[in-house]
Amino acid sequence: MLPQEAIRAKRDGRALPAATIRELVEGIGDGGLSDAQVGALAMAIYLQGMDAAETVALTEAIRDSGEVLDWSDLDLPGPVLDKHSTGGVGDLVSLVLGPWVAACGGHVPMISGRGLGHTGGTLDKLEAIPGYSVTPDTATFRRLVKDVGVAIIGQTGRLAPTDRRLYAVRDVTATVESLPLIVSSILGKKLACGLDALVMDVKVGSGAFMPTAEASRELASTIAEVASQAGTSTTALLTDMSQPLAPCAGNAVEVREALAVLTGERRDGRLLTVTRTLAAEMLLAGGLAADRDAAQARLDERLASGAAAERFARMVAGLGGPSDLLEAADRHLPTAPVVREVRAERAGHLRRMDTRALGLAVVELGGGRRAPDDPVDPAVGLTGIAALGDRLAAGQPLATVHARSEDDAERAERQLLAAVELGETPAPAPTLIQDIIR
Ligand code: URA
Repeated sequence: MLPQEAIRAKRDGRALPAATIRELVEGIGDGGLSDAQVGALAMAIYLQGMDAAETVALTEAIRDSGEVLDWSDLDLPGPVLDKHSTGGVGDLVSLVLGPWVAACGGHVPMISGRGLGHTGGTLDKLEAIPGYSVTPDTATFRRLVKDVGVAIIGQTGRLAPTDRRLYAVRDVTATVESLPLIVSSILGKKLACGLDALVMDVKVGSGAFMPTAEASRELASTIAEVASQAGTSTTALLTDMSQPLAPCAGNAVEVREALAVLTGERRDGRLLTVTRTLAAEMLLAGGLAADRDAAQARLDERLASGAAAERFARMVAGLGGPSDLLEAADRHLPTAPVVREVRAERAGHLRRMDTRALGLAVVELGGGRRAPDDPVDPAVGLTGIAALGDRLAAGQPLATVHARSEDDAERAERQLLAAVELGETPAPAPTLIQDIIR
């Protein structure tokens, strides 16, 4: 079908056959569709939506538009597993979860992203580790996935290349917020990694990518359905992002937090709970545990024994980082020159946080980007962030700002104070794991 006829059919609300969707995606990849046609197609999909069969076809076509990783020649002794998150603030789950699942027998080829908008990026965090390369050659990547069980690296140009053009056009044509386009974009890339199973972490709340709880739930259930129909068993969790997941946000500060969890220095908290729940789902999906209790028992043992920390250390060393990061983190991880405590202006219960605003405060400190090619400052960020439900006395710390200059610290302090609501009465703490959708 001519592209303009396919666009017309979608514009008029008709469902497109899978073969037509594949032709369109091929045209996006090889230039057969002009930018105007890609934009018009995206807008037609945005306005008319797609049914489940069309979304599966779009996902599969994007997945197949480039290299699809194949692990079969390596004779891996365990399943190939991954997790993807819709992103948040203080969300360093990947840094802990990848090595942890590897220590339980999984193989995790994790292709991660950079910070986007107010959300932090796993690659930016890992690059706070001196020497860590997120662009290893294919042989190194495959060797680490086989021998260490985990490698967290950046997107290569060969994986789902069509998504890059489609996303760039969506970005400038007001068509990002479309469920079938989001689902096929996320899954097209993830399913190109040759996974046996995927676990999705879809965030809900003031720091989430989707604007409402209903939209987050719809995204989670559509992802679980479409991925499973495209042949990759997928579970989606809905988890709370109405406050930063860890009590910190930034790059080096989040690597420090990951080390604290992996080495057992931090034994509780929301980050650990979400990571452990996602990891248990991965072990279940990969057949590495018979039930959730067995999965969690195995995870607990592998964390306590130091096996998960050891996998993290081997991954870091294998990708060019220091071989003694665990023992000498303070020597290797950068620190900011200005450290300022932000104190509560009045007494009260911490009732609400504008988590997005906290993420943007970190971006403005230099921990994220204003423009795509901006450098990221690994040292800046927030630590000791108070939690929803905390009762604070006047003058008690709300968080600590790590900044490059006094001016930056002052601005971040103002932003932080504006982003929190203290009240006379406590508000119920939001449920952390809101649902598990299979
Ligand atoms: N992340 C993606 O990779 N694609 C989208 O469309 C939205 C978020």
